[in-house]
Amino acid sequence: MSNRKLNILFAASEVTPFAKTGGLADVASALPKALHELGHNVKVVMPRYYLINPDNLEKLPAPLGVPMGCMGELWAGVYRSKLPNSDVEIYFIDHENYFGRDGLYDNGYESYNDNGDRFIFFSKAVFQLAKMLNFVPDIFHANDWHTAAIPALLKTRFRHDFAYASSVLTIHNLQHQGIFDKELIKLMEIGWEHYTPFEFESMGNINLLKGGIAMADAITTVSHKYAQEIQTLEYGFGLQWHIQAHSYKLFGILNGVDYSEWDPLHDRYIAKNYSIKDMQGKKVCKKDLQKTFNLPQNEDIALIGFVGRFVEQKGISLIASVINSLLDHNIQIVMLGTGEKWAEDFFNHLNFYRENFGIYIGYSNEIAHKIEAGADMFLMPSLFEPCGLNQIYSLRYGTLPIVRATGGLDDTIENFDIETGKGNGFKFYDATPPALLNTVLWAVDTFYNHKKEFNAMQKRAMQEHFSWIDSAKEYEKVYEYALKQKGL
Ligand code: ADP
Ligand code: GLC
Repeated sequence: MSNRKLNILFAASEVTPFAKTGGLADVASALPKALHELGHNVKVVMPRYYLINPDNLEKLPAPLGVPMGCMGELWAGVYRSKLPNSDVEIYFIDHENYFGRDGLYDNGYESYNDNGDRFIFFSKAVFQLAKMLNFVPDIFHANDWHTAAIPALLKTRFRHDFAYASSVLTIHNLQHQGIFDKELIKLMEIGWEHYTPFEFESMGNINLLKGGIAMADAITTVSHKYAQEIQTLEYGFGLQWHIQAHSYKLFGILNGVDYSEWDPLHDRYIAKNYSIKDMQGKKVCKKDLQKTFNLPQNEDIALIGFVGRFVEQKGISLIASVINSLLDHNIQIVMLGTGEKWAEDFFNHLNFYRENFGIYIGYSNEIAHKIEAGADMFLMPSLFEPCGLNQIYSLRYGTLPIVRATGGLDDTIENFDIETGKGNGFKFYDATPPALLNTVLWAVDTFYNHKKEFNAMQKRAMQEHFSWIDSAKEYEKVYEYALKQKGL
């Protein structure tokens, strides 16, 4: 394989720590840093939502002209900064009409009705930015539906400007495909010939992710298992045949962990740091967590944590259906998240009459860290999970994951086996309440009655290392593959 150093323009709709709703933001920050460490010249670009304070950013003097079909050229401001603790530059596209709102994608109740226009504008701005900076990317790396128009734009509207570039599209979540009225094709300016069932057309609408899959020189997703799953009826969200047709250029690459953020040894949010050599701190963190959630401070009781979006993907209904039975046992459960209203109401209500249950409805990075450190076990019973980051973070904190065997959860968690003592967590297969209930009770039984095995498993989990550098080396191979597709 060649060792050439590449110019990479990495476009994402959210990037930690500037704006985050989920794992995409963590990846969009950590992967560019790892690629930079490997010697590539990476620049990141995202929208400047108004929750991002411009006072801490450098404003570039000239505005950016973005062609938007019959609307003509719209003007955007550009800000610049660096990803924390690194030399990787990040650029922010500023446009009051499109991004001057509180939410990233929705107003808390429903998606913004101009999301198609907003992210076509952003995708085109990515190309105009490269031109303005005189940056000639070898690779345009797009992520999810928000930037999935980039591969098509590279092959059509901007083909003369960037004749020597290839595109890679990473699918972080196939459920969200970016489906809009077909008129959007006019704003894209790629031509109606791309409005076919083989590219962007889907039941009379435009499907941005579908088109991106067809047009990208390579596609990746965030675990090996998910790369297989999205080709099946169960997990394909209607695109399984389309993905099968493009599977020759599909690669599964597991996400890594940014251990400068997620390591109990130097975590700045937790009550006491700890490591495999001295686990005393974990007990202090457990009491601190119990205090945070107003639970009895008892270091002997099994404490289970959950952090995540309250949506079907995360198995929130499964949890709701078994949580009362679980709380009848000698178990404490704490949950952090936001999402579907019924779920927020349900768990909030539970909080009033269950003394061994605590909930925080909202977004709190600090509490997420406290849960990773203070809980004994971490619950993640997802119906599907492209990669999942929290279970991997949990391993480093010695907080044993209880997961459903799907996607990245299946790839990263090995089931406990009492005969051999092997494993790094507890895993179940059927997405049913009894399967979840029994598995959690099995994990709790292991915590109480097989202490030696439980502790050994914790220590093994803490030694595992999910390196971003290893993942970035896999992306290097995909970039080379994508360039080869164009004979570059
Ligand atoms: P997804 O991207 O599907 O939401 P991941 O497991 O990949 O799932 O990533 C979720 C990320 O978002 C993790 O870093 C997790 O800690 C964080 N997160 C999710 N919900 C919250 C919340 N309510 N407060 C703080 N962090 C959260
Ligand atoms: C998505 C997936 C999650 C994955 C994350 C980062 O949001 O739901 O499983 O870890 O993207 O790739």
